Amino acid sequence: MTKTLPSAPVTGDCLDTAGGPEGLAGFLATRRSSGKMALAEPGPDAATLADILRIAARVPDHRRVEPWRFITFTGAARERFGAALAEIAEARADKSESDASTAANLPLRAPVVVAVISSPDPLHKTPVWEQELSAGAVCYNMLLAARAAGFGAVWLSEWIAFDHDVDALLGLTAGERVAGYLYIGTPTAEAPERPRPDMAVKVTAWAG
Ligand SMILES: Cc1cc2nc3c(=O)[nH]c(=O)nc-3n(C[C@H](O)[C@H](O)[C@H](O)COP(=O)(O)O)c2cc1C
Repeated sequence: MTKTLPSAPVTGDCLDTAGGPEGLAGFLATRRSSGKMALAEPGPDAATLADILRIAARVPDHRRVEPWRFITFTGAARERFGAALAEIAEARADKSESDASTAANLPLRAPVVVAVISSPDPLHKTPVWEQELSAGAVCYNMLLAARAAGFGAVWLSEWIAFDHDVDALLGLTAGERVAGYLYIGTPTAEAPERPRPDMAVKVTAWAG
């Protein structure tokens, strides 16, 4: 069921972040992506999608560069994008990853697809690496916002995030890259839990 997302605070407001919302730890501790073939109608409507994107953009961003932007695909735009992807797939020398009909269906796997474009400023004092990390944070925040709104979502790249013809189709400029495609819809099945990192291996205490 779609849930109402909180509105944006007014700039300059002091936010009460001491306690955090009830259940936040549980929400994060059990977060899962949806399966890429398990996202059906309905997706978020225009107003909810706008809320999801606003929250997605609320990420750490060193020196407020805002080095990312969004391209949304909803309704028939997904079919037109799919048709264009099919043409690109057909012309690709390497057909191992996608044939034309598979390509045409990629954007149809969810009612709403959002391309997050990493758009770093190479001349900015903030290193490009930090700007690109911020774009990754946007993708993850969108997963959380979609889930908080009652939807399922998954972050995928696939070949369409690494193809120069797709970049041109999307109007990417020099230095811009697709950080990910976020697929958002109503989950038809909960994805089973998968193995999680062994934190005993991942975490070391600096003993220098
Ligand atoms: C940058 C990035 C690209 C990804 N691309 C794909 C992809 O193309 N195909 C895929 O099956 N999973 C991809 N994933 C993994 C899924 O988003 C997801 O993390 C995975 O299915 C595990 O689900 P979980 O988030 O519940 O742990 C990608 C993840 C990241 C961070």
